[in-house]
Amino acid sequence: MRIIAFVAISLCVLQFPLREGWAGEPIFPTPNRPVAQVISAEYSDEKTRDLHHEAERVMDLLGVKPGVRVADLGAGRGYYTVRLSARIGPDATIYATDVKADHIKELRARLKSEGIDGVKLVLGSPNDPKLPPAAIDVAILAHVYHEIENPYEFMYRLHRSLALGARVGIVDLDRPTESHGTPPKLLRCELGALGYREAAFQYLKPADGYLMVFVPPDELPPVKSIRACSN
Ligand SMILES: C[S@@+](CC[C@H](N)C(=O)[O-])C[C@H]1O[C@@H](n2cnc3c(N)ncnc32)[C@H](O)[C@@H]1O
Repeated sequence: MRIIAFVAISLCVLQFPLREGWAGEPIFPTPNRPVAQVISAEYSDEKTRDLHHEAERVMDLLGVKPGVRVADLGAGRGYYTVRLSARIGPDATIYATDVKADHIKELRARLKSEGIDGVKLVLGSPNDPKLPPAAIDVAILAHVYHEIENPYEFMYRLHRSLALGARVGIVDLDRPTESHGTPPKLLRCELGALGYREAAFQYLKPADGYLMVFVPPDELPPVKSIRACSN
């Protein structure tokens, strides 16, 4: 009995410095700050956002045009999805993901009622967008980053789906994560911990919040070496 207890404790002690689960899968650091609850399928009403040219500005800054393959991560009601489709045109490659099955269902119904074809709807898991490899040129995360349970793991798993030369655009409010925003300094640090490099930063005034654009690293760091940022 004592030998079994000794072996079990030794295994535990050995596991923690290696930061691997029992099955040997990597364990990502947990974010050192609150994660916001999902409370809605949209940031705010689409009319106001359009009056402030939010989607237009974001798509311009990210170089969205026909031929560019785009993912709307955390699409919710699809404010970005429908505008991406209008801009890219009938042969668009657009993925719209969400973690809530009912949001995906409602978006499917919306796209059908608005006659929008060809959007690939994907039910992701909280820490994996579940997109195919090398399939995306532009990934947009609008008002969702602060709701991602483990952003280190999510952005790590997104990496394999980003094509050569891809850009990631994160739209959020400059306020604490518990108040449904992400302070830019924190975002820089968390993405930087994975090797994503900031390429642009722009407040979207008169629209709310900011857009930060990242270039993914050629190679991700080993999971064991990733350290959580302080808030
Ligand atoms: C505030 S809404 C924003 C929706 C839309 N992007 C917009 O700008 O209006 C956030 C959405 O992100 C989704 N979400 C939260 N965590 C997610 C995750 N880990 N992966 C994908 N979607 C997620 C929520 O279910 C919700 O639909």
